[in-house]
Amino acid sequence: MADLPFSPSRLKLFNWHKWAGISILALSAVRLLWRLTHPAPALPGNIVQAMPDWQLKAHHLTHIALYALFFVVPLIGWAYTSATGFPVVLFGQYPLPDLVGPDKALAALLKPWHQISAYTLAILAALHIAAALKHQLVDRDGLLQRMSLRG
Ligand code: HEM
Ligand code: HEM
Repeated sequence: MADLPFSPSRLKLFNWHKWAGISILALSAVRLLWRLTHPAPALPGNIVQAMPDWQLKAHHLTHIALYALFFVVPLIGWAYTSATGFPVVLFGQYPLPDLVGPDKALAALLKPWHQISAYTLAILAALHIAAALKHQLVDRDGLLQRMSLRG
């Protein structure tokens, strides 16, 4: 999308990207509210005992960082597009407020941070999936099955 030459299909993809990103932002808010009112059950004792301290810390920190990035990435994207002077019209129907006024210098500052934070999110998600697969296939400790038992 970002590398396409200026064209109607580029504009269309930019809009779809913004709508998807705003939808993710809204879903993340619902999810965070749910999580704050319904805390995750503690890890079972046998899994905690089998995990070295650094893995327990990484488990905790990765989840916090993922949640933070669910907000940071789309909010920077939204602020970036506001700074460039292109307001978001959600699904082509609902105009959203601008997070900041038009500001070329701010837009130039935010653009790389949108990319860096998005790639950080992708890398963390990949590490998270790799860790889940390790629990499932190497440790065989039933961590994955826990998800289907949550209320
Ligand atoms: C979780 C949500 C989002 C993710 C993962 C994401 C990810 C990305 C990525 C990977 C790029 C390409 C960066 C590059 O290689 O140059 C990008 C570009 C862009 N994003 Fe997002 N984004 C999200 C949400 C949003 C939102 C909500 C908006 C605006 C409302 C937005 C606006 C943009 C714009 C305008 C660009 C193009 C930058 C340019 O080349 O001028 N993004 N985004
Ligand atoms: C094949 C894909 C995936 C698998 C197998 C998987 C597996 C898991 C498991 C087993 C847990 C619970 C860990 C525990 O019991 O403490 C979990 C939690 C979580 N996962 Fe994934 N995951 C996957 C993809 C993703 C992706 C793509 C994201 C984000 C982009 C993500 C974000 C999270 C978050 C934020 C939590 C913490 C949830 C909470 O406690 O509120 N996961 N995942």
